[in-house]
Amino acid sequence: DQSPDTHAYRQTGHYGSKFGLSWEEAQIAARRIAQAPHLQLTGLHAHIGSQFFDLKPLFRAIDRLAALAAWVQGQGLGEVRYFSPGGGLGVPYHPDDPAPRLVEAVRGLSEYAARAWQERVGGPYSTLALEPGRSLIARAGLALYTVGAMRHLTTGQRIIAVDGGMSDNLRPALYGARYTAALAHAPLAPTAGPARIVGPLCESGDFLIDSIDLPKAHPGDVLVVPGSGAYHLSMASNYNGMLRPAVWLHARGKLIPMQRRETVADLLRRDFPLPPQ
Ligand SMILES: Cc1ncc(COP(=O)(O)O)c(C=O)c1O
Repeated sequence: DQSPDTHAYRQTGHYGSKFGLSWEEAQIAARRIAQAPHLQLTGLHAHIGSQFFDLKPLFRAIDRLAALAAWVQGQGLGEVRYFSPGGGLGVPYHPDDPAPRLVEAVRGLSEYAARAWQERVGGPYSTLALEPGRSLIARAGLALYTVGAMRHLTTGQRIIAVDGGMSDNLRPALYGARYTAALAHAPLAPTAGPARIVGPLCESGDFLIDSIDLPKAHPGDVLVVPGSGAYHLSMASNYNGMLRPAVWLHARGKLIPMQRRETVADLLRRDFPLPPQ
């Protein structure tokens, strides 16, 4: 029952969550595994949520896992050789987010886990497994959009529509995720005031950035959104007939195609022809 400081939709370890087992359920599960002829309890796992920076809830999850391991082994129900507090380490998407401290975090977690194991379980140390997801790959991805229509509001704000949005990055619509962006040809040009970056779909929730100071933009300009390497295309959809973009790998000075852009034929490929009248 642990909750990191993150959006409620990214919490998974709280009581009443659809995920995981309560302490009592875990004890029942351990007994049932011990009684099952073809099962062996060899590891314990938790995942308390995603995209958080304060590691204290992860430390508490480690304490709980070590306490459960001590109970499992004390009851003779198994030998816990692996234990994992899951993933969730946050990455900066927006200038207000803290700087990444992946190495420090991994060091802190492994030192804490070794101590917790020693204090609560003793005996041979089990293998600690960490499950870094976005902290490894989110910053490896840049999403490129082309600027289309623009509106200038009387408040001075611009609404800039680009050729993608919630269909290739659901995170702003799903949980208000905040991003930064730059114009590819003029990343450091002076701002021309605030802009809202929106997609072309028939949803007011179809936006990428609620408000960002951007230089003057023109239709055809390329807008770059960093931090697009995780939970973007894996959540992409064809809503409103949107076509998923192509994916390129930039490695050793070369651009290598990884996925081609979708076509209308891709959208239709599961459709059956209507039966003859
Ligand atoms: C069990 C488990 N471990 C690790 C992760 C990775 O999470 P993150 O990308 O936030 O580090 C997830 C993501 O959903 C998960 O479900």
